[in-house]
Amino acid sequence: MAEQIIITGGGKVDIYNEIIPQIESVVEYESDLIANLSNITAILREAFGFFWVGFYLVKGDELVLGPFQGTLACTRIKRGRGVCGSSWSRGETIVVEDVEKFDGHIACSSASKSEVVVPIFVDGTVVAVIDVDSDELSSFDNDDAIALERIAKITSNLFTRCEK
Ligand code: SME
Repeated sequence: MAEQIIITGGGKVDIYNEIIPQIESVVEYESDLIANLSNITAILREAFGFFWVGFYLVKGDELVLGPFQGTLACTRIKRGRGVCGSSWSRGETIVVEDVEKFDGHIACSSASKSEVVVPIFVDGTVVAVIDVDSDELSSFDNDDAIALERIAKITSNLFTRCEK
């Protein structure tokens, strides 16, 4: 496994295009889910310096905090609550330009200003979400949504094939 990722791109789409094959390569021969999710958060954090990036995993009627990089975070989120729980219940990616304008946003950190949450599906059911937070307004757009959905697809395969 590579010990470091290589980032030469300029714009964020270039960077996503560079890191996605590297994510595929890093997870390819590892069979443990948590190990792989952990490395995906590390790669995203290293590539973009995100304020917070991590996974919440569906357990019963809640999302439970999974591997992440960043500040202390809420551990449990009910279905339909906050941006993460809403992404789960709607089954769709949510880009929030200003978290204060999202009804029901859960502030794990008062420094968080904008956010994107992407659901991860296995056989049409949400099994987890990827959550990325920024300490600046309007950090995320459709380019992030599309790229993170590609990463969600890679992650979906991990939920299917890895030990949990
Ligand atoms: N803001 C999220 C909660 C998770 S933290 O941002 C890490 C939400 O509203 O669901």
